[in-house]
Order: sequence, then structure tokens, then C-alpha cells
Amino acid sequence: MSINPGTPGNEPIEPHSGIPTLTLDPFEKAFLADPISHYSFLSDAGPVFFLRKYGIYGMARFASVKAALDDHETFCSGRGVGLSDFSKETPWRPASLLLETDPPEHDRARRIVNRIVSLTAIRHLTESWALTATSLVEELVSRKSVDLITDLAEVFPLRVFPDAIGIQKTGRENLLPYASATFNAFGPRNDLFDATNLIAAKSIEWVANSCKRQNLEDGGWGMAVHEAADRGECTEAEAERLVRSFLSAGVDTTVNGIGNMLYAFAQHPEQWQALRSNPSLIKKAFEESLRWLSTVQTFFRTTTRVVEVAGCRLPEGSKVLLFLGAANRDPRKWADAAMFKVERPLVGHVGFGSGIHACLGQMVARLEGELVLSALVRKVKSIRPIGPSVRRLNNTLLAFSSVPVEMERP
Ligand code: HEM
Repeated sequence: MSINPGTPGNEPIEPHSGIPTLTLDPFEKAFLADPISHYSFLSDAGPVFFLRKYGIYGMARFASVKAALDDHETFCSGRGVGLSDFSKETPWRPASLLLETDPPEHDRARRIVNRIVSLTAIRHLTESWALTATSLVEELVSRKSVDLITDLAEVFPLRVFPDAIGIQKTGRENLLPYASATFNAFGPRNDLFDATNLIAAKSIEWVANSCKRQNLEDGGWGMAVHEAADRGECTEAEAERLVRSFLSAGVDTTVNGIGNMLYAFAQHPEQWQALRSNPSLIKKAFEESLRWLSTVQTFFRTTTRVVEVAGCRLPEGSKVLLFLGAANRDPRKWADAAMFKVERPLVGHVGFGSGIHACLGQMVARLEGELVLSALVRKVKSIRPIGPSVRRLNNTLLAFSSVPVEMERP
């Protein structure tokens, strides 16, 4: 199977009068390489704007983005959360039963997985994941230099998460290319899409096989989904698609969430010292890193009816690009929005989304991020960049491929 979303942007759509029209392309490389420098331009344009190149609407202010996320009846996900409109085009893969559905279908699927990814299940994993984080960090601090991405952010989640799902041990190197391709596929058919499409075919097949009952270990979250099928809560084919959601949404996101957090500390030595002198700030620090450098930069919605946003009319069937990363830096919402401050009070960023589609795995992501931070706080006195950080471009995610540093022991 190959990824093949359509690009509806060629149709001559004009915005309703009064809506600012922008010629900027949020999927071109220059934008993706530095989305943050465009945030003010986007949010200052108005509560809603029109992106001419794709014939779509966009929102970058916190208030509009949050309101759209919370109003799933008007801003639906069932027509796809990428540029492609599933009412006009066939999705490149069978649609996600969680991310790309609306109630009641969404809620039925969500109930099944919510019971599996429970607080009890997470508590059960904490001790062994903490040991893994500690031994990985111990191994790294003994080295002269470390790449925070390839040696830590890409390593820790892959040491713990696939075992929790219970997926086959061989072939796990397919997980990151698969997830990367999935997140690229939410954008248009650009170079990034083509590049990952070329490498993803094998990974897509491996992931599809990994989600089958016969390839899942007993006791893992994957098998627990199949057991829900045994109880008649979903079909066997739906169970495979739900397991796929863990693999599509739970790997690249945490790799980059942790990677962006580590980058934030490499750039802010004074915040590292603030955290070391008060480790009770670890929870806040991880949340602040998601706000400051949001892993998931954008997701789309589609309007189910004519809707007024701050006095502007959006027609039914409009694709709306929600800039979560920009919302998390909107100065209308956040004091000192551009500053990374580990002491910032925990108040509802949209880095995990909001409303009925809010991230299913946020407790997992928090656990991973906080365990890495807590191991580092105990073992590392300072983090010093020793070369330029390198961004990995993706149509949806903000990611790094390299953050080289020296870490000093206490
Ligand atoms: C730092 C890590 C993570 C970030 C930043 C993140 C971000 C997000 C965001 C923004 C959404 C909302 C999508 C929307 O509104 O359309 C979402 C949904 C979702 N996430 Fe995460 N995520 C992370 C980790 C995980 C993990 C570890 C898992 C799996 C255990 C996971 C599974 C999901 C699923 C299945 C959905 C769809 C939920 C639904 O539609 O009901 N995520 N995530």
C-alpha cells in the first residue's frame, strides 16, 4: 500500500469577504524549518484566515484553536485531520477509528482503548520504565559527547513502549519511518510526502502485520484490544486498526516530545539549574516544553455546517488548519509566551489537543518525559551544546534529527 492523499487546493475557492487571505505556504520547507518565526504573522492576521495556495482556512490564536478543538460537532474529524477530505477522496490507509472518526463511532472505539491505557496500567509500568531511563542516562553520562536525539530521545521510547503494546521484536526499526510517513501524509503531496512515501511501503506492511492477534504477545495492550473483540466490543479487523493507532500515534510523538524537551534545556542552561535545584518542577517542565516547542504543530478539521468565527463566515465543508504550536505561543493567552520557564503554572496548553480527541496517550507521554528528566536531574549537572542542532522536517511534527551536547556529572 502507498500513501496517496489528494490535494484539494487546486479548486478555485474564494474566502468570504472580510477574511484575511494569506499567500504563505505552511507546508513549504522554509516554513517547516522555522514555523515559530511565522506564528505572530499568522495570529496577528485575525482569529481566522484563508490560505490561498490550498483553498483552506487557518486558525493560530489560542482562543480560536481551542474553541474549534472543543466543538467536534462543527469542526469534525471524520472527514480527515489532514488536507485530504475523506468525503471526496479515499484515505491513503483505512481511516483511524479514533483520530479520524466522529461520535458515536469515535466514542465506542475510545471507550475500548481508554480502559486499556488506564492509570492502573500506567502505574504498573512505572518502576521498570524508571530503571530503563536511569540505566540509559548512566550509560550516556559516561561518554564525552552525546546526541540527545539519536542517543536518548529515539532510544528510550523504543526501549519501553513497543514492549507495553507487546509487538514483535524483529523489525521494530520500521516504527519510526512508519510514524514519520503517517504524519507527513496529513500534509499536501510535497517533497516530504514523496520522500517518506518511497521508504514507507515496507514499514506500512510490517506495522499491519504487527497489529494482528497472532503477532502480539499475551499481556500487552495490543492483545487487550483483541480481547475486547472477543467480548464483542469491536470486530477483529477493528481491533487491528486500534492497535495500529498505538503505533501510529505513540512513537514519533514521544520521541519528538522528549527530543524537543531536551533541546529546550540545551538552549536554556539557567532553566536546567532551576530544575536541578527544585526537581519537584519536573511535571511542569515537561508540560512547558510541550507548550514552548509543540511536537504536533498542526491538525486539520472540516466544517460540518456554515459557521461564524469572530464574525467571519466559513462555508460547510471547509478544511481548517489548526496551528496548535502557534496557539501554545499566543501572547493573547500566555505571558512571556516566547520564554521557556519551568516554573510556569500548569494551565491547559493544546499540545495534546483538547475535546473528545485529546491525546489518548498523554499519561504515557508524560510518564516517559518525566522519567527521562528525573534520571537526568539526578545524574547531570550541566548540558552544553557542542554543535548546531539539526531539524528533521515533517508536515505535521516539529522534530530534530540531532542535538549534540556534552553532559557534565555533578
Ligand atoms: C509527547 C507525545 C504526544 C503528543 C505531543 C501527542 C499529541 C496528540 C494530539 C495533539 C492529539 C489530538 C489530535 C486531534 O485533535 O486531532 C493526539 C491524539 C491521539 N494520541 Fe497523542 N500525543 C502524544 C503521545 C501519544 C501516545 C504515547 C499515544 C499512545 C499511547 C498517543 C495516542 C493518541 C491517539 C490514539 C490519539 C487520537 C485520540 C482520539 O482521536 O480520540 N499519543 N495526540
